[in-house]
Amino acid sequence: AIDINTLRATTGMVTIDPGYKNTGSCESAITFLDGEKGILRYRGYSIEELAEKADFLEVAYLLIFGELPNKEQLAKFHHDIKEESQVDEEMKKILDGFPKAAHPMGVLSSLTSALVAFNPSSVDVSSEKAMYNSIVRILAKFPVLVAWTMRKKKGLPLDYGDDTLGYVENIHKMMFKRPNQEYKKDPIAIDALDKLLILHADHEQNCSTSTVRIVGSSHAGLFASLSAGISALWGPLHGGANQAVLEMLEAIEADGGDTKKYMAKAKDKDDPFRLMGFGHRVYKNFDPRAKIIKKAADDVLGNLGIDDPILDIAKGLEKEALEDPYFVDRKLYPNVDFYSGIIYRALGIPTEMFTVMFALGRLPGWIAQWREMRLRKEPIGRPRQIYIGENLRPFVPLEKR
Ligand code: ACO
Repeated sequence: AIDINTLRATTGMVTIDPGYKNTGSCESAITFLDGEKGILRYRGYSIEELAEKADFLEVAYLLIFGELPNKEQLAKFHHDIKEESQVDEEMKKILDGFPKAAHPMGVLSSLTSALVAFNPSSVDVSSEKAMYNSIVRILAKFPVLVAWTMRKKKGLPLDYGDDTLGYVENIHKMMFKRPNQEYKKDPIAIDALDKLLILHADHEQNCSTSTVRIVGSSHAGLFASLSAGISALWGPLHGGANQAVLEMLEAIEADGGDTKKYMAKAKDKDDPFRLMGFGHRVYKNFDPRAKIIKKAADDVLGNLGIDDPILDIAKGLEKEALEDPYFVDRKLYPNVDFYSGIIYRALGIPTEMFTVMFALGRLPGWIAQWREMRLRKEPIGRPRQIYIGENLRPFVPLEKR
């Protein structure tokens, strides 16, 4: 038998980097992130400026196609999306099959995958035009699936969108329109939603985006790649943190609001509890998105006249963490998820839907990254390993084991 060291030597040089902490998987022209300085830019535009001056559809176009659209380009993009806004009625039967208690992320991932069956041509990427059609199709249909997922949770009848409305306004209506009631436009809620979606729209090679790229690299279609990305986002160490943050804040409130007790738990290495919404793989400084969201939380709650004790608990935790050597030494700052849930809650979105809202925001980023990967004709993603198992050994028959 070849001994294990010879075997290892024949595999050539393999670097090992668990969690890919220092491994670049691709070259990308989409998002620039400087974690030390707390800088985030989409296609060269600062996140602060985009959140203030652009709307979500413009940002989606920017991320996917590389430039801000002019008026005609934006109008055509929106028109093409509206043309695709219907979801096959049969899809409702799939949704019906899920129990009401199902987690919305599981439902959304399944529906996104099922969408391929109803739109088989969406896997065609043989031309830029075919790719564009798939992109527009998913930008149109995904918000319907998001709205259906929430309406199912709330026991509301399923509905379609209203083509006379703006992209985000339409999403808001699809989510909140009550049966037998006129939909009232809510500019504060729509603005807040727009901003949150922009802030979540891309974040270079995070877990879900890497998943979308790697699944897509096998030439699985866009929708299948997105469905895998949704599953990756679900985890509490990634997008699922926004739900986990709110549940943590509620637990602290129910426990008498003693933030110090939870700070101590977070620092105790024998306690699995972590301060959710704190820390980031790349940011070793303030997450610039968290700064914008914190201000937005203040504004939205103020404008809606909501006095939420959860916001005070969050601010208290942040203040304590920023002064605590454990958090300071490890450069653990609030991330994008720390304050977003407080806004979603103020907007009337159920806690279990928070990660779905993240997915809705991240959709253009996933699409942009998938498109870039396909246009650059990247090879199939296939990491190596360093084998640490048994060397060759003889088979032992069942009766001798
Ligand atoms: N609370 C307490 N301690 C923490 C936290 C936290 N939230 N985050 C990290 N630490 C500690 C770790 O225990 C570790 O301590 P040690 O050096 O004494 O062992 C040190 O800080 C480094 O942490 P790692 O887990 O090694 O850092 P990594 O880069 O692998 O993980 C992550 C980053 C997953 C975001 C982590 O900070 C975390 O679990 N945070 C809470 C969950 C969260 O908010 N996730 C959302 C991230 S943003 C996003 O995905 C959209």
